[in-house]
Amino acid sequence: MANVAVIGTQWGDEGKGKIVDLYAGKADVIARFHGGNNAGHTLVVKGRKTILHLIPSGILHDDKICIIGNGVVFDPSVFLQEINELQESNLLPPNTRLLISERAHLIMPYHRSIDQAREARTSGKKIGTTGRGIGPAYEDKVARTGIRVGDLYEENLFREKLRYNLEEKNFLLKNFYNDTPLHEDEIATQYLTFAQKIKSYVADTSLILDKEIRQGKKVLFEGAQGSHLDVDHGTYPYVTSSNTVSANASCGNGIGPNTINKVVGICKAYTTRVGEGPFPTELKDEIGNHMQRIGQEFGATTGRKRRCGWLDMVLVRHAVRISGINALAITKLDVLTGLEKLKICVGYNCSDNQMTHSTPASIKVLAECQPIYEEFDGWKEDILYAREMNELPTNAKKYLKRLEELAEAKIILVSVGSSREETIFLEDPFLSRTL
Ligand code: GDP
Ligand code: IMO
Ligand code: MG
Repeated sequence: MANVAVIGTQWGDEGKGKIVDLYAGKADVIARFHGGNNAGHTLVVKGRKTILHLIPSGILHDDKICIIGNGVVFDPSVFLQEINELQESNLLPPNTRLLISERAHLIMPYHRSIDQAREARTSGKKIGTTGRGIGPAYEDKVARTGIRVGDLYEENLFREKLRYNLEEKNFLLKNFYNDTPLHEDEIATQYLTFAQKIKSYVADTSLILDKEIRQGKKVLFEGAQGSHLDVDHGTYPYVTSSNTVSANASCGNGIGPNTINKVVGICKAYTTRVGEGPFPTELKDEIGNHMQRIGQEFGATTGRKRRCGWLDMVLVRHAVRISGINALAITKLDVLTGLEKLKICVGYNCSDNQMTHSTPASIKVLAECQPIYEEFDGWKEDILYAREMNELPTNAKKYLKRLEELAEAKIILVSVGSSREETIFLEDPFLSRTL
């Protein structure tokens, strides 16, 4: 049996939530390892839509362990709200355990304020962040001034850390950003109340995960964001503040890299991006509007319209390389139905050379790259009801075959609609170890 990591191959919103929910049925443990509530993972079960930001997308299944790992930046108010919503909708299964690493860093109110104040600066370069405080929380973690979930249970230490941080952050907010300073006592009271409410979930999750793995249990690592939002490998600085690649599933959960045996890349049948940054295959025409409208491409976290464009296989190949992706799940193929002609970007013409397997490190060069396209005939038949490859129109199969060749990774799932059933399963990722 394999442990599986699910990774976005593009700029996020590839449909990871749907695939993690599907695979969670076969897993014992589902673990997030990075990011925070900047993520918006959509699950459609029995016609009901659930959007999860922080809680792992395995939560709708009974008898699982869902872990928020040490690599996640954790906003307790969002967590409690999410739990509340699930409880109110009767969606929390009785035997599923939800755990939060005591080592996860907390997102504090000043992180949100700084994130938003920075983005609001007219002279600054906007990243188009989700405004959830993700970047500033990771900054403090690396600066060694962050406050961790476990610190909430050492009240004196927590208050001391809060005071130390707030002195600096309030100076910045007041004098640099012209913003409202925050009150120490209010934050302390609020967070110490959260502490009691989340206490039963807090644990040494690395130890628990290790025990499960030793017992041969199946673990599903749930990536957030996408490969090209990775802080090292993405379109820096238009990225998020964590490593989104598969290797971080190990670091962000406190288990060895050899425990991840299979990496499934989630690839939308076209490309989208939210926020700023270069996007070589972006379409600002009727076809882009078709993808946006039919694919309902609105951010699950911020509601912003997602930018849309042709499938860019340079991005996907780059993602395959940096995460060791050895299987692909293709999503939203149905959104391309009805388009007369389809294009796949197979390379870039960049200054005086061609790039096919890697995006340039310089965003200036990337912004100037000209996509090299191959053109395909589209299909008109509704594919929402396809459950086998041979039920897909010939042209859809040709499109997928070329995608698979270019990616040099096997397609093991094709999603043709947002609900669980609207899926073509080709191979069970837990059954083979390919790394
Ligand atoms: P994630 O962040 O990668 O989990 O993706 P999001 O949930 O932000 O965005 C994906 C959107 O596409 C959601 O609204 C899903 O319900 C929807 N979706 C997922 N797979 C499919 C599919 O195959 N077809 C269609 N039409 N929608 C899909
Ligand atoms: P899921 O998990 C798409 C983008 C933001 C912005 C940049 C930095 O749903 O795929 P941040 O708030 O992280 O500092 O913002 O990253 N971004 C996402 N885009 N899907 C996501 O998550 C994203 N999480 C962050 O739009 O461009
Ligand atoms: Mg999303």
